[in-house]
Formats: sequence, structure tokens, C-alpha cells
Amino acid sequence: MKLVVAVIIFSLLNIFSLVNSCPPSDRAALIAIKAALNEPYLGIFNSWTGNDCCHNWYGVSCDPEVHRVSDINLRGESEDPIFEKAHRTGYMTGTISPAICQLTWLSSLTIADWKDISGTIPACITSLRFLRILDLIGNKLSGELPGDIGRLSRLTVLNVADNQLTGRLPRSLTNLSSLMHLDLRNNLLRGTIPRNFGKLRMLSRALLSRNRLQGQIPNSISYIYRLSDLDLSLNQLSGTIPPSLGKMAVLATLNLDGNKISGTIPPTLVNSRVGTLNLSKNALEGNIPDAFGPRSYFTVLDLSYNQLRGSIPKSIVSATFIGHLDVSHNHLCGPIPAGAPFDHLEASSFVYNDCLCGKPLRAC
Ligand SMILES: *[C@@H]1O[C@H](CO)[C@@H](O)[C@H](O)[C@H]1NC(C)=O
Ligand SMILES: *[C@@H]1O[C@H](CO)[C@@H](O)[C@H](O)[C@H]1NC(C)=O
Repeated sequence: MKLVVAVIIFSLLNIFSLVNSCPPSDRAALIAIKAALNEPYLGIFNSWTGNDCCHNWYGVSCDPEVHRVSDINLRGESEDPIFEKAHRTGYMTGTISPAICQLTWLSSLTIADWKDISGTIPACITSLRFLRILDLIGNKLSGELPGDIGRLSRLTVLNVADNQLTGRLPRSLTNLSSLMHLDLRNNLLRGTIPRNFGKLRMLSRALLSRNRLQGQIPNSISYIYRLSDLDLSLNQLSGTIPPSLGKMAVLATLNLDGNKISGTIPPTLVNSRVGTLNLSKNALEGNIPDAFGPRSYFTVLDLSYNQLRGSIPKSIVSATFIGHLDVSHNHLCGPIPAGAPFDHLEASSFVYNDCLCGKPLRAC
């Protein structure tokens, strides 16, 4: 009798653990992913062994209800004890296997900061319809973003910064209607920013700096109510700054430095919610707008290396705060206003102009 009970309990446990373990197809996909990568220093894949990939496989988590792999989280720079023990950050070579696309329940894929993972982003990744987070920052991925990336209707985070991606921004990109965080910085992307970029209504951060983007800043960007951080710096953008950017509800950081932007500085921009404004190294002309007011609160206001003329406007002393000001390397002239926002500034903020004078430069 005791034996029978023991056998029954044993079989129940067996069934239980079977139900809990990942399906063989998910396991096979993970094994193929492991085989395409080479991680020589930490041994993070040593745990990817045995049948139950849902338990104790480093960086792998499963959905507790359907028992499918839902999360792959492999970060080369992390606080995990495995890194502290090895006294080094992560390093991997190899590629991201298209087997990843067989993990059809995947909602979060992070393979970040491994420095030397190369190859392309598997195009089939756009078939992962539950994908919410795609974070492949800090590798050596090349090739193009998948053309039909817009199919990922649940995607909230797309971070492929610090790679070597080429080609244009896919036209379908603006179909990512759940996207909140877009980070494409430091790649080799070219072409224009889609005119209908403003369709990305959920976006709060759009970081596209250090690429080879050309053409105009689309007006439609100003329709993105939640956008707080727009970084288009160090591209080859031309045309003028849309004045509507200065009317945005929560835009706090606007970096357009290092482009070929011309025209004048819209007055809306100096009396807006923007607190970090870098327009340095462009071809901006005309005067610094005389439109500062108590709403002007700048931790950074960098207008250096342009073709600005006229004097520094008197209204600038009505700004509530200006932490770092740089108007150097322009064609400004006349007395530097005296007032609280200017008391702490050094000569380097004003040098290389035509005829600025007064504290902290020489007397007028
Ligand atoms: C964007 O989505 C719409 C609606 O699903 C579709 O008709 C259109 O072809 C998509 N655009 C691109 C460029 O994929
Ligand atoms: C503004 O942009 C220029 C050019 O990219 C850069 O050199 C400078 O450090 C930036 N200014 C600030 C205050 O970050």
C-alpha cells in the first residue's frame, strides 16, 4: 500500500515538473541561440543545460501560465555577482540566431552591451507578435532594421544604439503605435526622418543622434504630446527648426547640435518647457530671439558655432535660471547684459564673437 502511494506521488511530481518545464521546441531554440554565440569569460551559458529551460537558465524566464519562454535578458554590463566575481564586463562574439523567432511567446529580448556580437538582426523577429522590448544596444550588429518592423504592434522599447546598422529608417517604423522609447544613436543610418514621424503618439524619448540622417526635421514631431527628449544631434539634417517644437507640452531636452540646420532660432524655443537646448555647430542666422521670460529655465543653452548676429537680447536677464550658456563662435556684438543669470558665467561662454564687451569680457 505504502509503495503504491509512493508511486502515485512520484508520478504526480513527474507530471507536475513536466507541465512546468519549457516545451522541447523552446528549449531547442535556446540551444541554437547558445550555439551561435561565444561567451568566453563568464560562463553564463553553462546554466543552459538540462531539459527545464524555465528554471535556472541564466537570463531566461517563462510565462508562469503557458510555460513558454517570455523573457531573455542577457546584459554584458550588470551588477550581477557573476560579473563581480570575474572582475570584468561582458564580451561575446557570434551572431543572434534566427532560431530566436521560434520563441513565439517572447515579450522581452535583451542582448545588450556584449561589444562584439555581429551579423544582422534576424528579419523574422517581426513575427514575434508579443514582443514589447527589443534591446540590442552595444554590440556590433550590421545590416538594416527589418523593413516590416512596424508589425510589432506591442513594441514599447526599441533600442539598437551603439551598433553598425546601415540603410534607411524603415517606412513602417511609424506604425509602431505603442512605441515609447526609440534609441537608434550611434549607428550608420542614412536617409530622412519619415515625414509622418508624429504618428508615434506614445513616444517619450526619440534618440537618433550620431547617424547620417539628412533632410528636414518633420513638423509632425510636435504632435507627439508625450515627447520629453528629442536628440537628433550629429547628423546631416538641414532646413529650419519647426517653431512648433517650442510649443510642446513636455519637451525638456532638445539636441540639434552638429547638423546643417539654417534659418533663425524660433522665439518660441527660448520661452518654452525646454531646459536643455543645444543648437551648437549649425548654420543658424539672425538674432538670438528677444523672447526670454520667467518660463525660461535652462540648465544648458548652447548656441555656439553658428552665424548669429546682433546683440545678446535684454530679455535674457528675465530668465529664471541659466546654468550653462555658450554663445561663443558667432558674430555677436554689443554689451553683455548684467543680471543674475549672468553672474556666474565665464569669458569662455562669450569668446570668438565680433565685438561683445562687458563683464566677463573686457569693458565696453
Ligand atoms: C502601416 O499599417 C497600416 C495599417 O495596418 C498598413 O496598411 C500599412 O501598410 C503599414 N505601413 C507600412 C509602411 O508598413
Ligand atoms: C553641444 O553640442 C556640441 C556639438 O555637438 C558639443 O560639443 C557640446 O559639448 C554640447 N554642449 C553641451 C553643454 O553639452
